[in-house]
Amino acid sequence: MKGSIVLRINGAAVPATPGARLLDVLKGAGVFIPTLCDHPALPPLGGCRLCLVEVEEGRRRRLVASCLYPVEKPLEVLTESPQVQAARRYLLTLLLARHPKVEAVAELAARYGVQAEARLAAEPQECILCLRCVRACAAEGNDAIGTAWRGREKTVGPPFAEPPEACVGCGACAAVCPTGAIKVEETAERRRIWDRDFTLVRCERCGRPFTTVEQLAWAAKELPGAPPEARFCPRCRREDEARLIGRTLGSATP
Ligand code: SF4
Ligand code: SF4
Ligand code: FES
Repeated sequence: MKGSIVLRINGAAVPATPGARLLDVLKGAGVFIPTLCDHPALPPLGGCRLCLVEVEEGRRRRLVASCLYPVEKPLEVLTESPQVQAARRYLLTLLLARHPKVEAVAELAARYGVQAEARLAAEPQECILCLRCVRACAAEGNDAIGTAWRGREKTVGPPFAEPPEACVGCGACAAVCPTGAIKVEETAERRRIWDRDFTLVRCERCGRPFTTVEQLAWAAKELPGAPPEARFCPRCRREDEARLIGRTLGSATP
């Protein structure tokens, strides 16, 4: 393939675009790589380290977090070498001790033959500190939540654990959370998240709630050129655009 480099992944030749993330190349090649902190819509963090793989560059071998590793030259990659498996089992042992009820953790632990160790048992936590929520909120332009404390006391949430003023109730943080740790309550009219209530706005066509009054007010203030109010949800707007394109192409066809 022109403009590509060739990796050897577990012995098989796989072409890759220079600069692509190794994780994406591996997944694109159908190789299973466990991940907890990665999300395709968010900047990578390298937090959970589960995506570790072994790379051989020249005569050097090392473990790298594939979600942070840009492919720049031909490489030998091993995704399930004894070193990789040992590192993943160690990480999963710690994760399972702290988050035994988190399905995503339990599934990966079972896959790697990791069992709960009584000596490590701790107060079960739903939040695995993957920081997807914090990154999603920042990507939405709000920065309403962050981390507090350090080490085992580290938590994620609004500043001073109070209802966050900067939150607009968009729900992006909860949508990307892999464990369901962020609680969202919804009625027909209201959404409650991070101990704050927001007023839902429904699409005038399909009736689905798609934003909040507070998010629209934020967009009108912060995004120059944003319409003062939105009447239709993104899905209905996309369908409108597709219909318009279809009509335009149809009328252009001789
Ligand atoms: S609901 Fe609030 S905290 Fe969550 S992403 Fe939206 S603005 Fe941020
Ligand atoms: S609340 Fe969810 S998304 Fe946020 S850090 Fe915890 S597990 Fe990750
Ligand atoms: S997915 Fe790479 S460190 Fe979490």
